[in-house]
Amino acid sequence: MAVSPVGREIDRVDGRKKVTGQATYAADHKFENLAYAYVVTSTVPRGRIKEMDISAALGAPGVLDVYNPDKANNRNLGLTMPSMTPPLGHVENYPPLEDWEIRYRGQAIAVVVAETFEQARDAAGLITTTYETTPARLSMEDNSPGVPASIPGFPPFSFTKLAPGVASIDAALAASEVVIESSFHQPVQHHVAMEPHAAVVTWEGKERVTIYTGSQSPVAAQLLLAGRLGLPPANTRIVCTYTGGGFGSRVMSWNDAILAAGAARKLGRPVKLVMAREQVFTMVGHRGHVNQTVKLGASRSGVLTVVSHDCDAERPAVGGWPLLPAREVSDSLYKTPNLHVAQRFVELDMPPTWAMRGPNEAPGAFAIETAMDELAVATGVDPVELRLRNYATVGPEDGRPWSSKHLDECYRVGARRFGWSARRAKPRSRVEGEWLVGMGMATAIYPVARQAASARVELLRDDTAAVASGTSDMGTGSLTVLAIVGADSLGIPVRKVTPSVGDSALPPGATAAASGATQSTVPAIQDAAAAVIEELKKLAVSESKSPWHGADPKSLTYRDGKLSGGGRSMTFGRLLSTVGRSSVQATVNVQHDPEIVGRYSWHSFGAHFCEVRVNRFTGEPRVARWTTVVDVGRVVNAQTARSQLIGGVIWGIGHGLLEENRLEVATGRLAASNMADYMVPVNADIPEIDVHWLDRPDPQIGGLGARGLGELGTVGAAAAIGNAVFNATGIRVHETPITLDKLL
Ligand code: MOS
Repeated sequence: MAVSPVGREIDRVDGRKKVTGQATYAADHKFENLAYAYVVTSTVPRGRIKEMDISAALGAPGVLDVYNPDKANNRNLGLTMPSMTPPLGHVENYPPLEDWEIRYRGQAIAVVVAETFEQARDAAGLITTTYETTPARLSMEDNSPGVPASIPGFPPFSFTKLAPGVASIDAALAASEVVIESSFHQPVQHHVAMEPHAAVVTWEGKERVTIYTGSQSPVAAQLLLAGRLGLPPANTRIVCTYTGGGFGSRVMSWNDAILAAGAARKLGRPVKLVMAREQVFTMVGHRGHVNQTVKLGASRSGVLTVVSHDCDAERPAVGGWPLLPAREVSDSLYKTPNLHVAQRFVELDMPPTWAMRGPNEAPGAFAIETAMDELAVATGVDPVELRLRNYATVGPEDGRPWSSKHLDECYRVGARRFGWSARRAKPRSRVEGEWLVGMGMATAIYPVARQAASARVELLRDDTAAVASGTSDMGTGSLTVLAIVGADSLGIPVRKVTPSVGDSALPPGATAAASGATQSTVPAIQDAAAAVIEELKKLAVSESKSPWHGADPKSLTYRDGKLSGGGRSMTFGRLLSTVGRSSVQATVNVQHDPEIVGRYSWHSFGAHFCEVRVNRFTGEPRVARWTTVVDVGRVVNAQTARSQLIGGVIWGIGHGLLEENRLEVATGRLAASNMADYMVPVNADIPEIDVHWLDRPDPQIGGLGARGLGELGTVGAAAAIGNAVFNATGIRVHETPITLDKLL
């Protein structure tokens, strides 16, 4: 039996192409007669365009046309709202350039198309716009939160469970020996994927379009863009072979692809549209403002009696993805007789919000895992021991058994690897020169979100196989996962498998979001491999030139790339050559079994431990050491799993110490509009990060027992940093980022 590649360190199959510049990202696609588009954006947050003067732009060198909402002069692009709702909803709730309304500052209001990018950009600068403004709602504090009835596809916004005889959460808190109540604030954050959002679009007539654009989901992009263009999805092809990062921002498509497709249709030429970096900050959704309050009740020995978590999140009037930070974290973390989670929304005239890197889980865990550290301080119980005392052996909300949970082992193994026992509980008790040194820890948790997915496996004459699924690889390594699982399922070397993702023409695959691509795709590949082996056997007994012609297919066995039976053996390639076929293939769609889904509580788990040094004189915080131990079921590729987990921790360091965009409330302008002003970690911010996983395949999930791990590494990381900052300094910070001004 061939040695299985599953769980080993396998190089990315696309690594060489990426580092040698041969990978074609969206804007790298070239077509004859390509025209270049540049978007003009609004400079007020709310109101209406009174007048837009495009005459100078139309007369500028190289300009082919200018599109805007002027329907009287047929300048609009005829974009529509789709009748079908794509997975996770529409990005924005209006079609662009179809009316004169201004809904936020930085909204697309016109598109210039020219022979070159520079000509389009220069002409865009010649357009003058005057506005009738309306007072904009921009402050979380000045606007009242509300609760919509429901949003399709999202869980109910609140959940309360009370122990028998307990009248209310407040009564349960009043009866608790120890009470912690803390409020948390988080500013606007952005995904800042390295590749700016871009699209190159070509049409065949006005009925068929191919859109090259980075995407986390060819399926979702196809549905959204077909809807906006008024086309059947089958006529709308999305190609995202290479995608330069997503972090949630490419779960759906934005106005780069929508406007480029509209402009190319109207102009009758291929069009390329690349957002300027500053446009990505408003035309692509952001993670909105989040205000949270956590109340914990406990006994003096730290046993929880109440967990209560309320959240108010920004919800722009233009729509976007609603944040539910209390959900999926506080409802799933600790054993407690009284549990309350509730989400409200504050409607603002902001650019759309969107899911970003552990969208609910990262902000939610910052709140509850900071509050748990406060409880540890209040009760004098060690933070690891406190979490073990409140360990949930069933799902706290649904009461179901976990599909598989070894979080206790993560705490213990992590504490040992990190050297947690050297921590001094008393803050400010370790000083090294000008640095105050502290240790902190927090829990990581992320829900399992397996999706239906299809895969195709094809066996070829040269003894190689092709494995394809219309999911996406945004840099995470899913393409390599296809090769590994294909090789494992067929018993052939990884190098003999050619994987393909990133095209809506492939069998519809999983959306590479909610940490779900691998866990959703693996069972589809395995089933397609089993199906193609059956096809191969059928061929072997039905083809007259086959040595097994007329035999019973059950008498044949397949192993390690070879078919055997009746004392003969032949590789699949040899058999295909013998019978004169170029290939044999099978496509399989795998759905959830709702009965199994409903039987368990499904999550991945982990524990973070970190050491933070805070400068006594400047307040500067530096992360010095890090250990994360996770329970994610089976790991498919050790190399890319490690990279993803380290990447998740790095996001967490960004979340904890650096990332924020301030809003100028008077004008609706987001202060940062580039990657110098919007701070993300750089190499100098990142210490050696030790990540380790327990080798505990999930026995319930099917496939190889792999659960999601992509976003898990970021959940709880900011709280671990804040908890270490407290241990170093005695200062508790309830807002991110924890910057030096808060530590003086
Ligand atoms: Mo992720 S924020 O689920 O793409």
